Formats: sequence, structure tokens, C-alpha cells
Amino acid sequence: MIGEDEEMPRQAIRKLAPGKLVIASHNAGKVREIRELLGPFGIEPVSAAELDLPEPEETGTTFVANAELKALQAADLSGLPALADDSGLCVEALGDEPGIFSARWAGETRDFAIAMQRVEDRLAALPEGTARDAHFVCVLALAWPDGHLEWFEGRVDGTLVWPPRGGNGFGYDPVFQPLGHAETFGEMDPVAKTPLTHRARAFAQLVEAVL
Ligand code: IMP
Repeated sequence: MIGEDEEMPRQAIRKLAPGKLVIASHNAGKVREIRELLGPFGIEPVSAAELDLPEPEETGTTFVANAELKALQAADLSGLPALADDSGLCVEALGDEPGIFSARWAGETRDFAIAMQRVEDRLAALPEGTARDAHFVCVLALAWPDGHLEWFEGRVDGTLVWPPRGGNGFGYDPVFQPLGHAETFGEMDPVAKTPLTHRARAFAQLVEAVL
């Protein structure tokens, strides 16, 4: 994982040629976002759902491992390059939990009110004055059918607030206040939030390296 203040420039070995690229995600929001980003580069995104690809189990123990296994499986099954992402919230006082389990902390029903409460309860059980620092991480992995891989990581640092504030965004947005801003991601207009995100930062690196 990269340090707090650095954005590690990664030297890609392989460039992505114009043509079809599988977006290895069954999340319609992610697919739309990636489609918009890749549109100007002559890339034709095709979603995993359009190709009827199965959703692999996320058995990795890191964001990189999970993003890689999703991208590799999609590239292998489709015979096309494939892009996958894995992201989550890391709370420093909780040893970077929920991390790769961020979606799973919301339970079967994906209720993020429950997930945010769970984070808050865990923080409240720690000594008074414990730092509420947290960061979101996004890893984008790009795989080719021959097994070649490139990955890019983006991170945004902030503080957890309580109670949750704002009805915009998704997931943990209402409790995450990015450093240098007075609003939580949940209070921000999406146009203001998007360029600040871990996902946008990972994308910026991908674009610079492989496109
Ligand atoms: P993934 O689909 O396995 O990558 O799950 C990532 C989970 O992390 C999501 O379900 C959200 O709970 C959380 N997450 C990732 N990015 C964000 C964000 O930008 N805002 C709020 N929650 C996020």
C-alpha cells in the first residue's frame, strides 16, 4: 500500500491497445463510471454481465489480490483484456478494518447504516481520544488473456464523523470527511466528490500508465 503523502507512479510494461475491454464488475454504477472514463481513449468497454461471466468469490486477503483475481478470471474466460476494481474503507485505529470486508460488514442486505454503526461501536470501545483517521483505498487491476497483469492504487485520507451526515453517495460516504474539507462525502455534490476519490486517483494512474 502506498504511503499517506505519496502517489506512487507505476511504470506499466504493457499499453492497452484500442478495442474491447471487459469491465469485470457486476455493479452497474462501477461499469457506468468506467465506461465514461474510457470512452475518450478508443476503448470499447463490455461488462461482465453482457458476456454472462460468473462473479468470482473474493478469496484474496488484500485489495490487490481480489482485484487481480477478478480481472484474471474475466480475461481468461473472455479472451479479452479485463479491468477489475476492489475498494474499501480502512480505519487506522481498527488495524485498517473493515478493509477488504467493507461490503461484507453491511451484511446480506447491504445495509450501510449497520456497517457504519459497527465501525462506530468498535471505535467507541477504544480509549477516549483515539484518533478517528481513516482512508478509502481503490485498486484497479488490468489483466490480459495471457496472464499479464498491471495494477494501480488510489487512496484518499480523512476522518470519521458521528453521527452520519448527508444523503448523497453510497456505502460509508456519510461518515467520511476527507482531509481539508468541511463536508462528508455524503454531503458533497457528486461532481465535487468524484475527483477527490480513491477511485479517481487510481484511474488517473492507470490512464497515465497504460493509455
Ligand atoms: P467492492 O465492491 O468489493 O470493491 O466493495 C467496496 C465497498 O467499500 C463498497 O461496498 C463500499 O461499502 C465501500 N466503498 C468503496 N468505495 C467507497 C466510496 O467511495 N464511498 C463509500 N463507500 C465506499
